[in-house]
Amino acid sequence: MKLDKKLKQLPLVKTKPTSLDHLFGEQDLQTMWVADSDFQIAAPIQQALMERITDAGFGYEYKPASLFEAQRAWYKKHYGVNLVHEELLYSPSIPTTLTFVMEELTAPGDGIIIQPPVWNDFRNIIRRTKRKVEKNVLRLAASRYEIDFEDLEEKASAPANKALIICNPHNPVGRVWTRAELSRIVDICRRHDLLLISDEIHKDVVLFGHSFTSMLHYANKWDKLVICTSEAKSFNLPGILDSLAIIPNESLRKTIVDTLKKYHLGRTNALSRVALETAYRQGEAWLLELRKIIEDNVLIIEEELHHARSPIKLIKPEGTFQVWLDFRAIFSDTKIMFKQVTQNSKVALNAGHWYGREGALFMRMNIATTGEQVRQGIRKVIGAVG
Ligand SMILES: Cc1ncc(COP(=O)(O)O)c(C=O)c1O
Repeated sequence: MKLDKKLKQLPLVKTKPTSLDHLFGEQDLQTMWVADSDFQIAAPIQQALMERITDAGFGYEYKPASLFEAQRAWYKKHYGVNLVHEELLYSPSIPTTLTFVMEELTAPGDGIIIQPPVWNDFRNIIRRTKRKVEKNVLRLAASRYEIDFEDLEEKASAPANKALIICNPHNPVGRVWTRAELSRIVDICRRHDLLLISDEIHKDVVLFGHSFTSMLHYANKWDKLVICTSEAKSFNLPGILDSLAIIPNESLRKTIVDTLKKYHLGRTNALSRVALETAYRQGEAWLLELRKIIEDNVLIIEEELHHARSPIKLIKPEGTFQVWLDFRAIFSDTKIMFKQVTQNSKVALNAGHWYGREGALFMRMNIATTGEQVRQGIRKVIGAVG
């Protein structure tokens, strides 16, 4: 897989000087934070985009049946579920959909349950829409995170709590929820009449034989369900700005479709349309290669930590291209940890506490890059605390 050196010259969020200054206090850093990858997109996607650019003009486009057919075949083959055309809607990003879901399907003041440490925008969206964050904190048992189902049952049964947002695979702790876990979640939502929102953006990056199950499998048991996903993580396409939501319940779906219409967000971008259809039709080989590289990179981290007898502990991911590193044996103050690791290593990592205080004394490292970069990065981090 080619790493495009030119990527570094793009105005990427992860190398934006003002962001680096603001968050890390300096600019000259190895950037292993924002969750996009360093890899050049799959050759067939690049080719199709080039052909589209040289083709005719850029009139108003719609998403043709061929895109849905490609998507349906992908979902059938990879996740064993049948997509229904009428149940899908597209929006520019998952946060856009989540914001509308909060505003239209819940009420101000409603409790929305999340499972921290978890992707920080869940919390931001809940707060910005004037809902209330309720936490069903994940438990770290040995070196694997688990759902505290007793606590979830309790939170779900509180009348003020109206929705649950899960992240599968889970960013940042790397769990890929099992069918047994998903089915317990569905059962709890059904018994307590909770809106279930499943963010499945990391669905294609599953590692070491783990297998991803979409919530769509359970739509026949509980259809107060919104699934948000996109191909951004799978094919390094976040800059293409497109996302998918699957809402099997007609009345819920109509509410969100009407809101997207109200803000004129249902339009089709010609380039994202081409990129997505090509990814579904011809992207599999590239994705398999990506997964192998990520697995190798996890093993490099394990090997380096072991070799250095480092007190940093790796929470081995089952999915996503992030690793979650445990610094609790070294530090007791999360701010001191962040400052020391950043300043001494010159590697930009996400601080664990950005994902909620439950992530304090952990850090997230993005490993969607070459093995060489990963080895360099982890060595610098090990050296920074040694
Ligand atoms: C769980 C999760 N959802 C959504 C997103 C971002 O979605 P989008 O690319 O549509 O803005 C991310 C990005 O890191 C994520 O981790």
